[in-house]
Amino acid sequence: MSLTFSNVHFSQQPEKVVFMSGSLMRSMGLTGKKQIQLTLGTDSLTVPLKSIDRSGKHVYLSSGLRSNVRVPRSGPAYVHSPKEGHIHLGPVVGVLSDGPSVPGNPFGSRTGYIKQLLREGSKKMYVYAFAPRDINWQKETVNAYILSSGGQFIRKTVPLPDVVYNRLPSRRTDFSNFTNQLRDRFLRRNISFFNWAFFNKSDIYNLLENDVQAGRYVPETYNSPGPERIKDMMERHRFVYYKPSAGSLGNGIYRLTYHPKKGYFARYRSEGGNTLLKFPNFNSLMKMLQSKHGGSLKNYVIQQGIRLIEIDDCPIDFRFHMHKNAKNRWTAVGIGAKKAGRGSVTTHIKNGGQLMTPEQALGLVFGSRSKEVLDRAKQAAIVLAESIESHQSHVLAEIGFDIGIDEDEKIWMFEANSKPGRSIFAHPSLKVEGRASVEHIFEHSLYLSGFFRGNDS
Ligand SMILES: Nc1ncnc2c1ncn2[C@@H]1O[C@H](COP(=O)(O)OP(=O)(O)O)[C@@H](O)[C@H]1O
Ligand SMILES: [Mg+2]
Repeated sequence: MSLTFSNVHFSQQPEKVVFMSGSLMRSMGLTGKKQIQLTLGTDSLTVPLKSIDRSGKHVYLSSGLRSNVRVPRSGPAYVHSPKEGHIHLGPVVGVLSDGPSVPGNPFGSRTGYIKQLLREGSKKMYVYAFAPRDINWQKETVNAYILSSGGQFIRKTVPLPDVVYNRLPSRRTDFSNFTNQLRDRFLRRNISFFNWAFFNKSDIYNLLENDVQAGRYVPETYNSPGPERIKDMMERHRFVYYKPSAGSLGNGIYRLTYHPKKGYFARYRSEGGNTLLKFPNFNSLMKMLQSKHGGSLKNYVIQQGIRLIEIDDCPIDFRFHMHKNAKNRWTAVGIGAKKAGRGSVTTHIKNGGQLMTPEQALGLVFGSRSKEVLDRAKQAAIVLAESIESHQSHVLAEIGFDIGIDEDEKIWMFEANSKPGRSIFAHPSLKVEGRASVEHIFEHSLYLSGFFRGNDS
């Protein structure tokens, strides 16, 4: 098995033929070979191989050949030989998403990130974006989006990819029968699909609960709690978070507090403001929640409230953006600290939160101990990622954790996101991490596609 980086050129011969420079032929073990099986994504063809006198690593694909092996563009790509006489160009990474189907803006608010993926990934491999409707399963082709040299989307018919990066935007689409069928069809063709789907909070807590290593980072949590459970949790912990299992962005979250002398309080976000309500007794609190949410409360979880470290009396927590690397190991690629807006139940930026670097935030709270605390939190995030991965059967390559640290320096995990947002990377000091995050998607795609199987040991 060998892997080489090379320059792919398009030539105009009508017959089907591949030319390679001597240096490339030697490093791929092809010296003396008269033909090869050439593969790109799901396209494959046996073609005559000829040598060309040129220094460096170059491959020339004739126009006759390119009608069978639909190469998205000329330029740099990896050349990989999984077995003798077989040559794969790639890898081919398909970024799966969706949007409002408006010309020029096919992926809505995801367009910026998708263009960044196409721009960065295309420096080394083949990357295109597509929506489910762009796949032709009979022909095994995709009417893909790639970038023109001016950075605009253009369409091109290409083969199915080696790896799919799932960024479908909505839970509704992600869990539809249609999408389930689509995942099956990729898997049947041995095409890696990551990440599988959105996480539910209750699934993640359940799967971590019995894990000795990772379980200690999860606050006490119950799914679908009845009034008895909620009351007990409030009495024991004094404050709790009551949140929708499939929620995001702080929507529908309540911070419920019990003061033995003052009564019951509910804090939440409403109509753009923060609301604090007082209740004379537990039953009136339950009535309010019932009247606002009714049956959907069965999809809520109740969770022990954690007293987060604070700056200027505002709690802070952290986003740990985790990736798998080329060696199939988890790493904390980007970390952002989020300081809650005044009176806000959550630290979301859109609710008045403020973004800081972890060094800034932890420095203010722990002073000279901050590096040690951050290192422990990184270690915890890796344990959590490994644990989630080991308890599910699908390929998992990226996780955004919401992580809290309490006044005793204990580390807590509130949420795992399988399609993490990228707002932390807007911080001027986190732009480098933002690029590293994108690079990790492609590094790990090299691993998943079998082009590169690095080994630490
Ligand atoms: N158990 C908890 N204790 C303290 N703060 C919490 C707790 N659960 C959530 N939070 C705060 O609320 C924020 C949002 O909660 P999260 O579970 O991430 O829900 P969402 O899906 O809405 O982002 C967290 O980032 C954290 O600041
Ligand atoms: Mg969250």
